Amino acid sequence: MVDLLELEKRFLSAHIKEGGTVADFTMGNGHDTAFLSKSVGISGKVYAFDIQEKALENTKETLKKENCPDNVTFICDSHSNLLEYIKEPICAGVFNLGYLPGGNNKALTTLCTTTKKAVTDAITILDNDSIILIAVYPGHEEGRLEGEMLSKLLTEYDRRKICVSKFQIVNSPLSPFFFAVESR
Ligand SMILES: C[S@@+](CC[C@H](N)C(=O)[O-])C[C@H]1O[C@@H](n2cnc3c(N)ncnc32)[C@H](O)[C@@H]1O
Repeated sequence: MVDLLELEKRFLSAHIKEGGTVADFTMGNGHDTAFLSKSVGISGKVYAFDIQEKALENTKETLKKENCPDNVTFICDSHSNLLEYIKEPICAGVFNLGYLPGGNNKALTTLCTTTKKAVTDAITILDNDSIILIAVYPGHEEGRLEGEMLSKLLTEYDRRKICVSKFQIVNSPLSPFFFAVESR
């Protein structure tokens, strides 16, 4: 059976260039940050966002354990402010929505309004032939709402400029799914 996480990585790898600039918009425990950091290498640059200091701490540990290159800029702020920090085009951006896995405050989850602004802004800084990948967790109420909001928002883009695909297990509607937003 296709593993969605593997599929996500294949999409990202198809667009990430060594030396490129990328962003993890929801750092969490840093697994996506580590993947991005290794993918762009020491000459690349990773911007990593989270609203929780705990996520920054956990990510720093993950990066150390995985011997990642020193190429990550840590930002303790909402991804809805991303344009204040990223002033160059990115070849990949990852949103892994929801709350910190293993964290003790599930109220600190991503929210529809800020997710909408962040995704919209992230698309404006996408380089050509680049990708924003958004993983959605519809098994909790806020995740269900984010999935609905994104399905509507992302259908509104002109497919000659931005191609949006959705990967979902249709006979398991509460399982996580993802959008791949690819620029031409
Ligand atoms: C599902 S976790 C991400 C998992 C992570 N990618 C990993 O590899 O471990 C979602 C993260 O988004 C963070 N988050 C929630 N709202 C946010 C916001 N407005 N801006 C940035 N991060 C946010 C949460 O604190 C949480 O750590």
